[in-house]
Amino acid sequence: MRVMATAGNEALIATRARATEAARQAGGAPAAADSARVADTGVPVLALQGISLSFGGVTALERIDLSVAKGEIRAIIGPNGAGKSSLLNVVSGLYRPDQGMVRLGSERFTHVPAVRLAALGVARTFQNLALFKGLRVLDNVVMGLVARRRSGFVRQILSTPLARREEIEACAAAEEAIAFLHLDAVKHQLAGGLPYGIQKRVELARALVARPQLLLLDEPFAGVTVGEKQELATHVRNARDAYGTTIVLIEHDIGIVMGLSDRVAVLDYGRKIADGVPAEVRSDQAVIDAYLGVAHEGETELVI
Ligand SMILES: Nc1ncnc2c1ncn2[C@@H]1O[C@H](COP(=O)(O)OP(=O)(O)O)[C@@H](O)[C@H]1O
Ligand SMILES: [Mg+2]
Repeated sequence: MRVMATAGNEALIATRARATEAARQAGGAPAAADSARVADTGVPVLALQGISLSFGGVTALERIDLSVAKGEIRAIIGPNGAGKSSLLNVVSGLYRPDQGMVRLGSERFTHVPAVRLAALGVARTFQNLALFKGLRVLDNVVMGLVARRRSGFVRQILSTPLARREEIEACAAAEEAIAFLHLDAVKHQLAGGLPYGIQKRVELARALVARPQLLLLDEPFAGVTVGEKQELATHVRNARDAYGTTIVLIEHDIGIVMGLSDRVAVLDYGRKIADGVPAEVRSDQAVIDAYLGVAHEGETELVI
């Protein structure tokens, strides 16, 4: 494999390691090498305990433990079929695990109620684009707030004061998300006609508009150009920094993962084979054998 870490990445990783070490010396967080404990010092935004899931004879997830600390960018990597999307589907309630527990904030679930997802502060994007191609960008982003509205369909049709107020608030929030993601120039265009990378950004805006506490991103950079990847990665980082959003990110591009994430979990055949800060995971022999040893196309040298 080509060494994808750039000077910028190394500097980022080194800065984080120095910050963690300084905190440790000050009696705060443990050293980077012991990073798995960082998430356990506060209540994790998300915790999976012993999650198993199978489809017929196929084991998609096997006794997965994972904790995601507030405000971190948590990457999940692994080969195709490793169980990454299944894991997000369990967290978002699309799949019911055979065993285990999902904790979202202070609530515990054996099956996350998908209908309550927005109320639980969780938003997600899908591996394959799921935009309304015949709607304008602005309308697509407003859709990200539908689950949050208290006025039902009838009130909206009758345009009651509550429905009208919510509509105005939804438009204002959508405009803000659009500006945040630099989509102003295309906000009145139909989503389906836009370049793929821009559509991915619209999807990110739709997920962010409700200001979720936890944002689940399934391969948000797949299929976009190198330049668009850089831009999207910057937006993801900005979303975390500006809104304090905790992010779980599934991504194949190791350059992006190493530069953007605070901790990385590695799945292989449904099992978690490694978990730690990017530098640890990158030098882990099991990870190199299962995943990093394979040549990856289209890796990006991330500079953000
Ligand atoms: N809805 C489903 N029905 C049957 N098998 C599934 C389903 N979802 C996932 N799988 C299987 O579970 C395994 C993990 O898939 P997936 O979570 O999509 O992996 P990844 O996202 O890491 O590529 C694969 O073997 C896949 O075929
Ligand atoms: Mg997948």
